Amino acid sequence: MYKRFFGLKENPFNVNPDPRYLFLTKQTEETLSGLMYGIQTRKGIMTLVGEVGTGKTTLVNRLLDWLHQHGTKTAFLFNSRINSTQFFDFTLAEFEIRCESSSKSQQLMKLNEWLVERFRGGETAVLIIDEAQNLTFPVLEEIRLLTNLETSTEKLLQIVLSGQPEFEEKLNLPQLRQLRQRIMIRCKTGALTKEEIHDYIFERLKIAGAGANGQPIFSPAAMEAVHKYSLGIPRVVNLLCEHALINAYVEQQRPIGPKIIEDIAREFKLDIAEPVATPESLRTSAELYNSEAFIQNLGEALSRFRVSPSTSSSRGTK
Ligand SMILES: Nc1ncnc2c1ncn2[C@@H]1O[C@H](COP(=O)(O)OP(=O)(O)O)[C@@H](O)[C@H]1O
Ligand SMILES: [Mg+2]
Repeated sequence: MYKRFFGLKENPFNVNPDPRYLFLTKQTEETLSGLMYGIQTRKGIMTLVGEVGTGKTTLVNRLLDWLHQHGTKTAFLFNSRINSTQFFDFTLAEFEIRCESSSKSQQLMKLNEWLVERFRGGETAVLIIDEAQNLTFPVLEEIRLLTNLETSTEKLLQIVLSGQPEFEEKLNLPQLRQLRQRIMIRCKTGALTKEEIHDYIFERLKIAGAGANGQPIFSPAAMEAVHKYSLGIPRVVNLLCEHALINAYVEQQRPIGPKIIEDIAREFKLDIAEPVATPESLRTSAELYNSEAFIQNLGEALSRFRVSPSTSSSRGTK
């Protein structure tokens, strides 16, 4: 409906972490190349930290695309509410390592053998875990122990841990000292500046098919308002802009003025500051998350058998 009105081929502000829409700011570029460098030079553990909605999963998806293009073996765990057994089960399944036994020592031996084979063949293996702030201490300890799989000079497995700022706080706890010391590359995602938001909106509209000429879709004042209410967080920019397209279509308004943005901000209570972290009390029991994680990761693993990586343009969850 609104697509035709604005001359678009697809929804420009979908909240899926679609790597086609990746907008490279100086920071995202640095982050992406930092991770690529860390993986190529086999640094071992790397972290990617940023507030909710700042583009971590989108960036990880782009990284995965790049790794697949280079024939790198990857394992991607996007649901981190897992226990140690599930962690090993999913990691092996993602790497497509066959192991008849479900004993941890057997699985570790298989993983080690497989990593040594990859290393001898000049290949790299990368494990990426999203939402790392949810990883439990036992699983983080398993991850640390995985960095002991190494040759005399290099780490056999490259590990990217992506999470919200709580993850960084967790890493500062004394019990995670050993893991913290093994982190070789630390990357960040952050809020966009006012100028970057303008470019971000233009870029997304262009990818979605908006013509370069003709009347603009968003007025400069509307984009100012988007900056004000989104605080530069891309997910909120998308929310504001998507609803603005719908409302402006209903009102047959082009370019979109600031009032439409202000109304949506009020509707979504973006005009009220909100706490960043989810209160612990709102979380469901760990048991439930474990089975949920199991099913989600299993679903993801199974979908790989149906869709090849090149045809699935977006993975993961918000
Ligand atoms: N650099 C970026 N380029 C394009 N879109 C982005 C970027 N950063 C975030 N987004 C968009 O913002 C939304 C949230 O991004 P996401 O990667 O899910 O954030 P996070 O994983 O940090 O919570 C997604 O719709 C995504 O498309
Ligand atoms: Mg995410």
